[in-house]
Amino acid sequence: MLTWEQLLLDKDDLWKTFHLNSRIPSWCSEKKINKEILINIPPIHLSFEEKIDTPLGEVLMKRESSRKISKASINLKLLSRLLINSYCIRDNKEHPVRTAPSAGALFPIEIYFHCNLTKEYPEFLPGIYYYCPDSLTITRYTNNMSQPIMDRILLQKELANSTLLFFLVANFSKPTAKYGERGYRFTLLEAGHIAQNFNLVATALGMSCVNIGGYSEEDANHLLNIDGLISSVVYMFSINF
Ligand SMILES: Cc1cc2nc3c(=O)[nH]c(=O)nc-3n(C[C@H](O)[C@H](O)[C@H](O)COP(=O)(O)O)c2cc1C
Repeated sequence: MLTWEQLLLDKDDLWKTFHLNSRIPSWCSEKKINKEILINIPPIHLSFEEKIDTPLGEVLMKRESSRKISKASINLKLLSRLLINSYCIRDNKEHPVRTAPSAGALFPIEIYFHCNLTKEYPEFLPGIYYYCPDSLTITRYTNNMSQPIMDRILLQKELANSTLLFFLVANFSKPTAKYGERGYRFTLLEAGHIAQNFNLVATALGMSCVNIGGYSEEDANHLLNIDGLISSVVYMFSINF
């Protein structure tokens, strides 16, 4: 058994070693995913119509994980309510204040999600969208995920049919430049803050949520075209009716 002193390594970038060693390894990474990053797709603007008015105490008492998959489409109004109430810049007077905190206000977490929007707007095709809380827009980032891709990413394959399947992507560069190894810890904590907001807002909106730790980071990173080290998927969750 090593002592605490022996466990302390005098090395920079330990977080990279930890990050790579705490992955769920890809079980078929030799199969390359045929991904397509969509460019020149105009963003869709979200409108902030309604705040959540359900009392917090009531929401907290209702929150529980649900693995019930609804496979339903979601309309843009409800999607806007979910995204904006969970994560937005709510005040910009002195500095941008978001609905979730961030160490040093570096905001290293980005939000991607897969959804099927209802047919009210035919141009809103199924696919993975990037949510930008600064401009309150969503932009389609890749085409619809195929079943083989999701089979590689998810341990619980049925979650692929979720109404909304979220990927929280951490960009470790700024927090680790400022805080060293501790920046890695802060970034993971911040993903938890944001995920909890979504859990609670989904509950308040009458939807269900389950957090997902059982996914192949390597395949999820590949799908989103990120390197898996400086930027990586650090958390997933599924939201359903
Ligand atoms: C970090 C984290 C990872 C999780 N990963 C999974 C997962 O991969 N699959 C799943 O079905 N539930 C997952 N869960 C949900 C837990 O199983 C669930 O929160 C726990 O059983 C307690 O149930 P409750 O949330 O209904 O109170 C995860 C929860 C957390 C916080």
